[in-house]
Amino acid sequence: MCGIVGFNGHQQAAPILLQGLTKLEYRGYDSAGLCVRDGSEPAVIIKAKGRLSVLKEKTNDGLSVHGDCGIGHTRWATHGEPSETNAHPHCSDDGNVIGVHNGIIENYQELKEKLLRNGYTFYSETDTEIAIKLIDYYYKKYLHTPVDAINHALVRIRGSYALELMFKDYPGEIYVARKDSPMILGIANGESYIASDVPAILKYTRTVYYIGNQQLARVGKGEITFYNLDGDEIEIEPKTVEWDAAAAEKGGYEHFMMKEIHEQPKAVQDTLHSVEHDGVIDLSGIGITDEQIQKLRQIYIVACGSAYHVGVAAQYVLEDLAGIPVRVELASEFRYRHLPFSENASEDSLVIIISQSGETADSLAALRKAHEKGLPTLGVVNVVGSSIAREADHVFYTLAGPEIAVATTKAYSAQLVALYTIAIQFGKVRGLISDEDYTKYIADLEALPAKIEKVLEDESRIQWFAAKQSNAHDVFFIGRGIDYAISLEGSLKLKEISYVHSEAYAAGELKHGTISLIEDGTLVISVLTQPRLIEKTTSNMVEVRSRGAYLMGLTTYGNYDVEDLADFTTYVPATDPHFAASVAVIPLQLLAYYFAVSRGLDVDKPRNLAKSVTVE
Ligand code: M6R
Repeated sequence: MCGIVGFNGHQQAAPILLQGLTKLEYRGYDSAGLCVRDGSEPAVIIKAKGRLSVLKEKTNDGLSVHGDCGIGHTRWATHGEPSETNAHPHCSDDGNVIGVHNGIIENYQELKEKLLRNGYTFYSETDTEIAIKLIDYYYKKYLHTPVDAINHALVRIRGSYALELMFKDYPGEIYVARKDSPMILGIANGESYIASDVPAILKYTRTVYYIGNQQLARVGKGEITFYNLDGDEIEIEPKTVEWDAAAAEKGGYEHFMMKEIHEQPKAVQDTLHSVEHDGVIDLSGIGITDEQIQKLRQIYIVACGSAYHVGVAAQYVLEDLAGIPVRVELASEFRYRHLPFSENASEDSLVIIISQSGETADSLAALRKAHEKGLPTLGVVNVVGSSIAREADHVFYTLAGPEIAVATTKAYSAQLVALYTIAIQFGKVRGLISDEDYTKYIADLEALPAKIEKVLEDESRIQWFAAKQSNAHDVFFIGRGIDYAISLEGSLKLKEISYVHSEAYAAGELKHGTISLIEDGTLVISVLTQPRLIEKTTSNMVEVRSRGAYLMGLTTYGNYDVEDLADFTTYVPATDPHFAASVAVIPLQLLAYYFAVSRGLDVDKPRNLAKSVTVE
């Protein structure tokens, strides 16, 4: 969602801010703006509705705005329509406080009334303007110091925020505060950087500070001082980011999504090898003990979107291999549900939160709910230092590297393999997997990267099929068991980037309603990787074909009977059926990609979507 950048150094700030915002474009936005200050001269604010290119044009790529200290923002509208007026930065009427904000101020109405009573007026529909004016109010009421004013305001604000602020009386300084919205700070060569996300500053520095919840910082040139809510100085240790700058570039591909699709063999291999060496899985780094694993009676997997689909696939694997009942829950539902947890839940349950960004608001809230109920949590997270990674009791980092395209591919694949290793190890510790099967499962995981590579070699066949079918209005994905989980992900990939309506159904459910939607030429994609369920799903294919469906079959080499039924069949290498999602999802990612390309759409930044959903 909104992207934030800041720079305080010895170069012109605006071009650096614009470069940073460009790197954050993937987060989703509908307007942009920046504020730059040259010494004690008044600050200059420039805003634009629409693409960042409009702001770049307005500022001549930043060259027409002078000053070495500034803040920038891309806005994803929540309160108030996308417009230049609602775009950030916002400022108090006399320009005393200027700021940008990512997050949501939940009690904005109550705060607005308080400010109205105190003579403030409002020009925008945003909650951010209220936050800025509240800080201005406390600045003038009390000590006339930024830290004190921000702290007074933060005590009154309910909601989430990553705030960047500039004060008229404090030239050459930026103040920031954070609660439940991502923000990192970086330092290099006597200059300071601020961003919502690592890719925006990777080019300049890999030394970063992860500012904590309800903490503040004064950002000078190359020096940052952190404060708590009482205004006391606190120490935060810098961390080194392992990702390199090239990882956040397109590397010759037309779109990040295609680059990331091709990075999947490596993402899977790196994630696997982070816990598996010489044929042995070692989860000790994650801190879950064998005793804990043996006691487990219930696992909850909680996530959103594609991460939820990983959970659906993992449910089958964990129940099968580790013999533990698993409930997979959408985080947005889990957080508000009154689930009756067992009396011993703190000892015999585990909540696994899966999240690429580690910042998804619903997933974070679900994690906190689990903690409130005393349940231990394990975060499967890609972004180091993200909120979920920081708050979970245990963390399994997926090593997918930065994922920029809104539609997840490599993070999904890395999450799958993380969950497989958990399932195998849990099964082994609980005595359900023999040494022989253990060795075989690990060999199967080791073989996945090469099998994914093989599917990628067949790309042109999918490209051809996608070009032929890209005018479809409705697409249905069907499968049973893990094939149903694969269908869910295939369907989401297709709809989110190609804007073609699609649905995924457990194949056996078709007859309970959906089959009435099948008419002449409706594209139905049938996933058949699970040997014991293939016959059943084949019957469902026969049913839809007799009602006019145009059939695509996605199956493993060897199941050549599928060709007799399907109009188009694509094959993937066979693997142990538990791990089939890892190979079978690849053609579906490619299909979605080529549908979107054929329809001339912006693959990496689909409309209305944000990479990391940091508001409810
Ligand atoms: O960062 P997270 O993994 O928590 O994100 C969850 C979903 O928002 C995400 O998977 C979303 O569904 C993707 N756009 C799917 O491609």
